[in-house]
Amino acid sequence: MTSAHLTFDQTDDKVAERVVKMRSSAVRDLFAAASRPDIVSLSGGMPDVSLLPHSAIRTATRAACDDQRAVALQYGSTDGRVETKRVFCDLMRDAGVRTKPENIMITTGAQEALDLIAKTFINPGDIILAEGPTYLGALQAFSAYEPDVRCIAFDNEGMRMDLLEEELERIGKNNPRLKFLYTIPNFQNPGGVTMIPVRRQRLLELADEYNFMVVEDDPYGRLRYDGGHVLPLKALSDEVLYLGTVSKVFAPGLRTGWIAAPKSVLAKINLIKQGTDLCGSAFNQVIVEHYFTDTPWQKTLQKFVKTYRTRRDAMLAALEEYFPAEASWTHPEGGFFVWVTLPPYVDTGSMLSAALEHGVTYVPGDGFFPGASGGKNSMRIAFCFADPEKLTEGIKRLAEVIEERLELYRVFIEAGAIKG
Ligand SMILES: Cc1ncc(COP(=O)(O)O)c(C=O)c1O
Repeated sequence: MTSAHLTFDQTDDKVAERVVKMRSSAVRDLFAAASRPDIVSLSGGMPDVSLLPHSAIRTATRAACDDQRAVALQYGSTDGRVETKRVFCDLMRDAGVRTKPENIMITTGAQEALDLIAKTFINPGDIILAEGPTYLGALQAFSAYEPDVRCIAFDNEGMRMDLLEEELERIGKNNPRLKFLYTIPNFQNPGGVTMIPVRRQRLLELADEYNFMVVEDDPYGRLRYDGGHVLPLKALSDEVLYLGTVSKVFAPGLRTGWIAAPKSVLAKINLIKQGTDLCGSAFNQVIVEHYFTDTPWQKTLQKFVKTYRTRRDAMLAALEEYFPAEASWTHPEGGFFVWVTLPPYVDTGSMLSAALEHGVTYVPGDGFFPGASGGKNSMRIAFCFADPEKLTEGIKRLAEVIEERLELYRVFIEAGAIKG
């Protein structure tokens, strides 16, 4: 008797090679553990949607359910509703970018935009440049198309242009394999660092000189807690492919984001999107439009900023108080994340089970490098979701776990078994 359904074992030898090479996201894997009440989760980058006023959500959803129901429940155009595009043009104008609805495509979050761009531009073996470490969802999206992702380290002023230039010299000018550079210039995920203006300028000069596209991913740009606004790369060059999303300023459940790019680029991506999902959710786009036009969303944004600033301050103070002298970490001016670096002999991947036993989670650093090629002694910790008391408790627990590891290694180092 034949079955229409293949068992897992049978599909194993049918699966495409690119899937065999793919890894599950460490953050997704930690999701179940992170929701246990006894655990302080420092792993997920989830916005605190409990801060959204009920009245705003009701106002935003009413139109989709009532007078705009007919369009909201129907298929829409692949590139999205023009009304939603206008809202995103306004948001971008606020950030210093002038663009038009015809230069916008609505996507199912910035995550779909990453997949669409990868699917449109990457052939196996093509070179993609990115900060290292970088957003693991981007690495996952890219890896399905089998590129050669090369990482450029950052310091406190963002991606290091000297290292980028060295890598570009190795790649050579007009190398057809070099497709794009992917960057999160504001409050980088996972690094928390922001690229300073002179480096943004230099990056665009290099893009011209070496002929590659720049993909700017900016989910956190409006969540700034200190310092002044820095102009997006897109404000400096119209050629940039800019990715926006409502996930961190409204709600990720809406799964609505956008790409702002030259029309010729969007036309190619449109072909791919047709085969992916025909069009995004019109229902959610109507809700997004009304949220940004009929509710005091800027006041809500201020509430987000104030709350996250307090949480960031609590995390940085706890790190200062409890973490050992051997650890170092970044000091983000915005966003959700702090990147912690431990001595090279500490493996944060194997330390995770001890952390879970102590009631705390984080994301091991190697997931943020292609093929786990770096970051083994690093971790990402998020301050966005827990309240200050919980964050302090989480850091205290984590410090205990790290201290235990360091103690163990000190014994080995003293015995000469490993190098300090
Ligand atoms: C840098 C970065 N890009 C993209 C995304 C995905 O965002 P979205 O919810 O819009 O798909 C995230 C989500 O955490 C992110 O941190």
